[in-house]
Amino acid sequence: MKSNTLSLSRRQFLGRSTAATFGAIAFGSLSLRGQSAAPAEQPAPKKYCPFRAAGIKPPAGEPDEAWWRGVRARFDLRSDRVYLNTGTTGPVPISVREARARVERELAEDPGADVSRLFLHEDTRAFLAKAVNADADDIVLTRSTTEGLNIFAFGLDLRRGDEVILDSQEHSAAINPFRELEDRVGIKIVRVELPVPNALDREQIVEAWRRAITPRSRLLVASHVTYKSGLALPIRELADLAHSRGLLISVDGAQSFGVLPLDLPALDIDHYAAPGQKWLLAGTGTGFSWIRRDVQPRVRTLTGWHDPASARTGAHTARRYEQTGQKNVAGINSLVEALAFRQVVGPARIEARARELAARLQRGLRETKTAEVWTPADPALSAGLTAFTLDELPPKAVAKALQARHITVRTVEVDKKEALRVSTHLFNSPEEVDRLLALLRDFVAAPALLA
Ligand SMILES: Cc1ncc(COP(=O)(O)O)c(C=O)c1O
Repeated sequence: MKSNTLSLSRRQFLGRSTAATFGAIAFGSLSLRGQSAAPAEQPAPKKYCPFRAAGIKPPAGEPDEAWWRGVRARFDLRSDRVYLNTGTTGPVPISVREARARVERELAEDPGADVSRLFLHEDTRAFLAKAVNADADDIVLTRSTTEGLNIFAFGLDLRRGDEVILDSQEHSAAINPFRELEDRVGIKIVRVELPVPNALDREQIVEAWRRAITPRSRLLVASHVTYKSGLALPIRELADLAHSRGLLISVDGAQSFGVLPLDLPALDIDHYAAPGQKWLLAGTGTGFSWIRRDVQPRVRTLTGWHDPASARTGAHTARRYEQTGQKNVAGINSLVEALAFRQVVGPARIEARARELAARLQRGLRETKTAEVWTPADPALSAGLTAFTLDELPPKAVAKALQARHITVRTVEVDKKEALRVSTHLFNSPEEVDRLLALLRDFVAAPALLA
């Protein structure tokens, strides 16, 4: 008889997962690896635990730089490079990389461990749900933010003349489903202008959205944090506005999930889509989406769907929006590993660190007197992204010159105006920010360095 760590029944496991507190989930079952019952005289093998695998002990009090260096040491990141582009793709911690490889190997060793695949999905779903204060039945495991945004946009029965309101800083991943629906069914996209540098306070931002609403409006689509200027939109207020006018609200969490805390019920939105590969540091091909329970009946599936769990119980949970057939098991498991890493480092510490480094950068930029910072200085309106221009220096040339000096940032564009964008996250350090600032000062003093 094959004996392995999957001997726990799925129901037993899920029962434990959902009943357990976030930190007390039984992770022994995450391993697919067969382990014969140990002879009595041998100690039982230590169960695999992603919290332990993260390799980080919480600090005794306030974390100091030595503790953050220990966190950084849990990445493969090269010490001769400064990576400041998590907003595009984050690095995976060593524990995530190793877990991904381990699951791949275990599946290669025993591809027949079918039930295990369900285990990993449901464990991940339960773990994610806990992290965002949601119910596992409303979580859709996806491969990217884009997939989650499309599931919602195309699932809604939008008709000719219906209006969808998006702001001028949304990503093409959020806009393009509606461009396609403009072509296919004749919906209309209405744009809310968000100026750069930001000149609006919370009320003014909400007011800009309010002015865009008409009797034909059906949906607001907004980023939790915009990828262009790093503006954190007042999502709860926008949700209240949408609902007060009978509209739905869909939120793109690509630049917030993993760096800002996420409490979905508190936001009171209808849909959320997030990646794993950016601020959560889970690696590519991972993500999740969430659809509010009472909105799900209005969201059709994009294709015929196959969900063994729903087929058995007859309950139509958000699992029905997962239409990818057999899943990327190792990738999905990476979400658990990355969430465990996040939990050990501490969500509040991560947010504070990203903000502290962003503030250090913004202070340094403002001191140069030649920088125009697009990101609001108000912490309530920003997170881990900082966008800025420098004097008359062309942002693309600056990014290229930085890359040549082993510092990775990127550029963004709003209405044909370009800026540099820097992501500061938990593995970055004040020294890295200072190194960037020193180079930027050199470029301002001697633009010929960009040639
Ligand atoms: C705001 C925003 N939305 C969506 C995306 C697309 O993300 P994904 O590759 O996870 O689909 C990005 C990627 O940079 C983004 O910044």
